[in-house]
This record gives sequence, C-alpha cells and structure tokens, in this order.
Amino acid sequence: MKPHFLTLLTAAALTIAVAQTRAQAPVYLDVNQPIEQRINDAMKRMTTEEKVALLHAQSKFSSAGVKRLGIPEVWCSDGPMGIRDEVLWDEWEQAGWTSDSCIAFPSLTCLAATWNSDMAALYGKSIGEEALYRRKNVLLGPGVNICRTPINGRTFEYMSEDPFLNAQLVVPYVKNVQQNGVAACVKHFALNNFEVNRSSANVIVSDRALYEIYLPAFKAAVTEGNAWAIMGSYNLYQNQHCCHNKRLLIDILKSDWKFDGVVISDWGGCHSTDEAVANGLDLEFGTWTGGKTWGRSNSYDNYFLAKPYLDGIKSGKYTTTELDDKVSRVLRLIFRTSMSGQARWGSLCSDEHYAAARKIAGEGIVLLKNDRNILPIDASKNPKILVVGENAIKMLTLGGGSTSLKVQRELLPLDGLRNRFGAENVTFARGYVGDTTTTFDGIDTGQKLADHRSAQELTDEAVRMAKDVDFVIFVGGMNKSNGQDCEGTDRASLELPYNQNNVVSAIVKVNPNLIFVNIAGSPVTMPWLNSVPAVIQAWFIGSEAGNAIADILSGDVNPSGKLPLTFPAKLEDVGAHSVGEYVCKPSFKVVDVEYKEDILVGYRWFDTKKIKPLFPFGYGLSYTTFSYGKPSIDKATMTADGSVTVKVDVTNTGKRAGAEVVQLYIADLKSSLPRPAKELKGFKKVQLNPGETKTVEFTIDSSALSFYNDTKKQWEAEPGAFEAIIGASSADIKGKVKFELK
Ligand code: GLC
Repeated sequence: MKPHFLTLLTAAALTIAVAQTRAQAPVYLDVNQPIEQRINDAMKRMTTEEKVALLHAQSKFSSAGVKRLGIPEVWCSDGPMGIRDEVLWDEWEQAGWTSDSCIAFPSLTCLAATWNSDMAALYGKSIGEEALYRRKNVLLGPGVNICRTPINGRTFEYMSEDPFLNAQLVVPYVKNVQQNGVAACVKHFALNNFEVNRSSANVIVSDRALYEIYLPAFKAAVTEGNAWAIMGSYNLYQNQHCCHNKRLLIDILKSDWKFDGVVISDWGGCHSTDEAVANGLDLEFGTWTGGKTWGRSNSYDNYFLAKPYLDGIKSGKYTTTELDDKVSRVLRLIFRTSMSGQARWGSLCSDEHYAAARKIAGEGIVLLKNDRNILPIDASKNPKILVVGENAIKMLTLGGGSTSLKVQRELLPLDGLRNRFGAENVTFARGYVGDTTTTFDGIDTGQKLADHRSAQELTDEAVRMAKDVDFVIFVGGMNKSNGQDCEGTDRASLELPYNQNNVVSAIVKVNPNLIFVNIAGSPVTMPWLNSVPAVIQAWFIGSEAGNAIADILSGDVNPSGKLPLTFPAKLEDVGAHSVGEYVCKPSFKVVDVEYKEDILVGYRWFDTKKIKPLFPFGYGLSYTTFSYGKPSIDKATMTADGSVTVKVDVTNTGKRAGAEVVQLYIADLKSSLPRPAKELKGFKKVQLNPGETKTVEFTIDSSALSFYNDTKKQWEAEPGAFEAIIGASSADIKGKVKFELK
C-alpha cells in the first residue's frame, strides 16, 4: 500500500525539524565541532561565578563542572602505579567501596629499569584503562623528578637519575594514558627531589642544571607527549612556590613550550591568590582549609582561587584576562576527556593488565650478581629452598603516601616461589621483623605480621633452617614506612634496616648458596656482598611480585633490566652528599637548598670524579652473555645541521635467548664550559637468540652534543672533537669512536 501523501509530508517536516534541532545544538555540546570553538561557545554562556568555580576543588579529588550547562566535574586520581581507592568527599580516608580494588603496577623505577619504551607504552595503556574504568579524568602521574639523591623518600615513585632516560620513557607513558581519554598529569614540576621540608625549601640551582638535568623530562612530556596536565611541586624556586611560579609556569611551560593544558597544584601547594592568578596556576587542589571549619558552609570557598579570586574580579583587582585563560584550559581538559564524545569504557583488573604488570616487572628486575651461575634455580631438580625475610610475606602495595593502593590481589614473593618450586620444597623463616602495621588510609591488608621474638631468636631460626637446604632466598630490602621508601620523609642512610645485614651474614656462613632479593625502590648498601653469590634488584613490583620474582629466579624469564640509578658504595660518594648539607633540618620557615653539584648528578658525578660505585648506572647481567663488535661511524665530521650514525654489532654468545640494552654516551672532548665526562644520548634493547648477531644503530644530530649556555640563554653544540661511546653500562665501555663537529 502506497504511503499517503500526508504521511510523507509529516515525515519530511519531522526530518527538517530534527535537523534544525540538531543544528541548533549548542556548539560546546557538539563533539564534532573543533575543541577551540566548543571552548569559546561554552565561555560565552558561563557566568563569572561559574568560571571561578571551575578553577578549584569541590572535594578531595574533584573540581566543579558547570551543572547548568551539562559540563561534568573533573575527577582526579592518584597515582602513577595504580588507581587509588575512592576516598570520602573531603578526607584521605577510603570510602569503603567494594568495587574499587585495582592492580598495582610496578614502581616507575622498575619501569625505568626496563630501558624499554615499549614497556612504558604498555604501562600507560594499561593504567589509563584502569583510570577510565574508574571514571577518572586525570591520572596524577607519572612522576619524573630526577633522582638527585638515593635517599629521597619518593625515589621509588620516579624513574631515574638521567634526563634522557626519563624523557624517552615519559613520552610513550603519557601518550598511551591519554589514548584512553584520560589526562596524564606529569609531576612534580619542578625541582622536588627530596621530601624533608618539601613545602618550605627554596631550591637554588644553576640554569645549566635546570635546563640540562631537571627540565628535559617535563619538556618531552609536553612537547612530544602532548601532556594535558602538569602538577606544580610543593617546593619553592627563586623564592616563589612552584605551584604559582612565574618563571617555571609562564615563561618556560606556557610560553617557551606552548603548553595548552592545565597546571594543577599539588595538594596544598597553593599559597597565594595574587601569585596563583598571575603565575599560571589553573586548578587548585588540597589547600588546607581546616576541613570545612572556617565559618562557611563549604570551606572550598576559602580556596585561593575561589571567593578571594571572585571578590578580586568584582572589585576590579583582577582582570578577567587570566580568568579566561585558566577557564579555557580547564574546558580544553574536559573536552579532551569526559566530553570527548568517544565511547570508551576501560577495564579494571583484567588478565591483560595482570600480564602487563608481570611483563614490565620481568623486564625491570635487574640481575646484579650471579657468581658460579648459581641462578637460575632449576626447579626440575626439586631443590630444597628456604625463603627468609619479612618482604617475602608483607604486602607492599599499601602505604608509602599517595601511591598507596587497595589492590585486588598482591602475589607475595613467598607464595610465588612456592607456586613455582613446589610448596613442599619451600620453607620460610622470618629472619627479621620490620614494620608489622597493615593499615593505611583506613585500608587494612588483614595480614597478621606480629612476631615478638628477639632478633637473636629470629636469626638463630633462619641459620638453623638454612643448614639443610640447597638454596636460601633472602627477600629483604625496604618498605613503605616513614624513613624508608615513603612520601613525606627521606631516608636517614643507605643501610638496609631491621638488622638484615647481620642475618644475611649469619646465614651465608652456614649456607653459601644465598640469593639476596632486594625489594626496594631505591639503592641500598650491601656489606655482605663479597660473600653472597647472587643479588637481584627487584624494586616494588606490585600485584605480580611473586610471579615476577619466581619467573626470574627459575629462569622462566631471562633478566634484562639495567639500573636506572647508580648504587653508591657509600652515601658520601653521591654528588648531592659530597658538597655539604644535603637537606636542611625540618623547618616551617623557608630554607634554601642549593644544588651545588650542579649538572654532575648521578653517574655524571661518579664518572667525572672517578668514584667507583657499588653498581653503576646502566648495569645489569643476564643468564646469557653478549659480545660487542667495534663501533663504527658513517662519517668523521658532522655539520651543524647534519647527523652521524654509529653502528655496533652485538652477539649473543651464550646458550639462551636474552635481551641486551646497548647504551650510547657522548663525550665532548673540548668545551668552553665544564661538561660531564659523558652523557647518555641513546639506548636500544635488542632481543638476541643464542649465536645471533644484530647491528644496533644510533643516528644523532647536534642536539645530542649540545649543552645549555646559561650566559647566552640557549642550547649550543660547540664545534670540536666528540666521542661516541658504546657501553653495556656507564662503566662497561665496549668501544669509542671519535668524530668532529664542524
Ligand atoms: C600528594 C603528592 C602528589 C599527589 C597528591 C594527591 O601530596 O605530592 O603526588 O598526587 O598529593 O594525593
């Protein structure tokens, strides 16, 4: 039956009406419109009150949207290694949800130890999916502050002591988090390289060290990774708090680097309305307001960018120029994340994410010593194994500050080893008692760690049990307690805590087959090293700790990690500790902290001062062996706008497949300004089968030769002689080739 004429007419009318309605949909709501047009349209519709409300927190981790316009709130979440549990509206305490357990991925120092950008990409993708599933718009991570001192309490949260390594890893991490429509918030910008007095220390540093050491990872995150958010740090620089620091935020970040994202304060890092308005803070969180007790219904009105700012605009004290810049940035963040229009759901605690955590950990664990090739342990021989140490049984994903996590599960080293080698073959002795607390932020792991025996009793038990086993695996190191690897505190020394050194020394006397597994986020000293045949640096590796450690010790995975941090023989050998007072004593007034070692951070100091470390930057062994050919270079001279290519053959000379990280360092043999002995400017991780040879190539241009000339305020590569140095670590040099920059 043919449709009646009137039906056709009605259908046509309806179609036009719908089309017109759609055409009238406000631009800011139309996901097909360019973001900049959506921003302008939204701004036109917003009142001043609504604009100001966008710029500060409304709860512990969220800021207001514009309800009237259907613009959603912005939700942030820690942290760089996993998505924090939901907390109460205005508390750090957990909210008691049953659907917010997560996966703890390995610490970022472990990620850095992989020396593998693919692992950084996998990491960012996986954690971004967990953030998206939990409906978070901003992931408060990664942290990329340079490890200037190994006793910084937050070393475990950061990556390495080298700006090039940090820069190479932060870019894929950020890009892959943001692929999920979740903003990465790279932190802490800048110069937050210690915890004591982090809010009152005024860092003094030369422009050379600032530009050559402390800024590169942030610059890469912004200019190459297109980071959508940056977190200001607690400390001061040039006597101005970094959360509203003109030089860092306006001159460098927003002008030089053209950052179009949002500057978020660290929680409580904002201290002034005038400076926050003028110096580039866009989103204020965590300001201490006495927790809703300051005489107003909502203490968030007390925030520096809340009522004080609104009053200032109304009184004419502030123009709306800064206001509109800030609001446009926050709207850009919203239109890039929650209002991007792309339907993505993320995933939480998926098999893929567990596999990713295990793979990253397996690539980040570093084999530091393996005498007599005692490792890997052949499970097929059913060896009797004694596991010793509190870190074999204590959950370490909880605690340590803002990276503390409520995990869905954490496979402990003892359980991982029992699964792999057979529970009947693996016994346990406590060895030492460290921190038996099991709660943080209202979360309780439920573990029963109390043990009231004396240190002597614990040692005697371990020694007795060690006598009749084939191997002793000592799982020790640090934990997340104050004074160890923990935010808000720095360590007092590099020594292992809780009497571990004595226990190790006592055990190895009765059983020489001792393997030390160092579960720590930062370097430690090892006075017993000469008598212990094997050591692995296992970092804090999260939910899959037990599996990853068992994978390595059993040989299921061939270790390929390399140290991203120098392990010093003693603290005084570190640059920051050999130039006078490392940190000021705790103080509420502003105190200066001068980075006197300047550009000689990490291996730069050890190389230039010719100090032998316990284990050097870039060091790590394998269960196979590699040989290097003689490096070659394609031309003896490089022009200023040209490049050179350095090649080197690497061969797997052992009996099993493995991966080697080939490192390229550059030495400026004659410079008008002092420069480090050498600097990392390239690295490649190559997988090689037994007997296989691959040619590794590095093509570098003048940027790899440059230093920051702080009188001319620019980077420059001085003509003259240079050396390309190929190393298996910063100390294990395989070959050098000279070339000339014309
Ligand atoms: C903390 C940390 C920061 C964290 C924030 C929110 O003090 O410095 O890294 O993201 O506050 O917990």
